[in-house]
Amino acid sequence: MIELVPAAMLHAELLAGMHAICFVESWSARSMAEVLVMPGSSALIAVDGGQLQPSTTPPGPAGLVMWRRTFDEAEILTLAVLPPWRCQGVGGRLLEAAMADSAAQGAATMFLEVADDNLAGQALYRRHGFAQVGRRKGYYGGVDALTMRRTLDQSQFRELSSEYPGKTT
Ligand SMILES: CC(C)(COP(=O)(O)OP(=O)(O)OC[C@H]1O[C@@H](n2cnc3c(N)ncnc32)[C@H](O)[C@@H]1OP(=O)(O)O)[C@@H](O)C(=O)NCCC(=O)NCCS
Repeated sequence: MIELVPAAMLHAELLAGMHAICFVESWSARSMAEVLVMPGSSALIAVDGGQLQPSTTPPGPAGLVMWRRTFDEAEILTLAVLPPWRCQGVGGRLLEAAMADSAAQGAATMFLEVADDNLAGQALYRRHGFAQVGRRKGYYGGVDALTMRRTLDQSQFRELSSEYPGKTT
């Protein structure tokens, strides 16, 4: 069973290790710690089988999402699922939890950026209501970033209220 657990400073190293598996340009533990203390930031770890020790095979930490809310806007800072857990709905659950929490805290809009060549990421975001609203040329080392946006309405996420654990910082 996969549970969504709030991430805290003691998880900075774990978050960085997971991020490094999923992205070429990965964030260090220090960067993770800096994000975790930013005002309005929150993070969740998808944990399979209650196992929070790093592992590249189940059970273990399966994915992460980090987001930030400023007044009525929220932004997905990063979202990733480790390869053995992909295409099982974990990314969708993490994204929905971030949206639900942001809506509950008063955000009316959520933004994110995704690489133009990241078809899996774009498919996930479109399926969850995001549409492209902009493009940043060469943002990811020569690859364009698509800026995507969707509106948030707390009533859309009521059924998730028991799943999202709330703000973590
Ligand atoms: C993008 C990512 C988070 C998706 O996580 P996930 O747990 O597999 O997501 P879900 O299982 O909830 O949904 C995956 C969806 O993407 C689709 N998908 C998966 N791989 C795909 C690919 N290569 N091309 C197109 N669509 C793809 C699946 O079909 C699925 O959609 P469906 O349910 O309608 O069939 C994961 O692939 C990942 O961590 N990638 C590396 C990091 C990354 O790109 N993060 C997002 C950008 S910041």
